[in-house]
Amino acid sequence: MLPFNEVPHAPVRDTTTIRPPAASHGADMWRVARDSDELDLNSSYKYMLFARDFARTCRVAVVGDRVVAFVLGYRRPEAPERLFVWQIAVDEDHRGAGLAGRLLDDLVTVGDTESPVVFVETTITDDNTASQRLFAAFAERRSAPNEVSDLFDGPDFPDRHDAERLHRIGPIPSPVRG
Ligand SMILES: CC(C)(COP(=O)(O)OP(=O)(O)OC[C@H]1O[C@@H](n2cnc3c(N)ncnc32)[C@H](O)[C@@H]1OP(=O)(O)O)[C@@H](O)C(=O)NCCC(=O)NCCS
Repeated sequence: MLPFNEVPHAPVRDTTTIRPPAASHGADMWRVARDSDELDLNSSYKYMLFARDFARTCRVAVVGDRVVAFVLGYRRPEAPERLFVWQIAVDEDHRGAGLAGRLLDDLVTVGDTESPVVFVETTITDDNTASQRLFAAFAERRSAPNEVSDLFDGPDFPDRHDAERLHRIGPIPSPVRG
């Protein structure tokens, strides 16, 4: 049996494939994050570890042999039915075509059918309209509530950082859980 991150996943259109990352994709995820001009750029080592150890809760979109988008998440250890989406980014020339939405859909729908995702959580800053719309549209597709609350305020951060508001989407209706 193939390892989970080598199993082919849903092809999107003719040339884009959405799949869990291989370990080698961590470096590509770092590049997409760096070029987004929006995300907090973590060390390349962090993306490489996520690609190796959290492939089930991450996805990359690949065109040819180039990674053009990724989503990086994890199951919260104390509440594994909650999938926390840490970062999602699409290369600029692939934006506006529904790719980020498809990454989220693949993550939640194809995900782990024995242990379905009941809530999707993420944090978004007030100025990130595209991300707010992305997650609101995801909630609408799932007919799931989208609750917004404070999580980390600006002064909570040790460095300069905008407030991060928690968006909690769910419960996600059972027909799409597996
Ligand atoms: C946010 C981001 C991932 C969206 O990627 P995308 O592939 O262009 O998004 P989609 O095409 O799937 O669009 C999803 C929804 O967001 C809306 N949207 C996308 N970009 C938008 C923008 N700049 N302004 C307003 N709405 C926008 C789309 O219209 C769509 O809503 P709809 O279904 O109601 O039409 C992308 O803009 C990006 O990489 N930004 C930089 C990184 C970032 O901010 N990531 C989020 C924080 S972790």
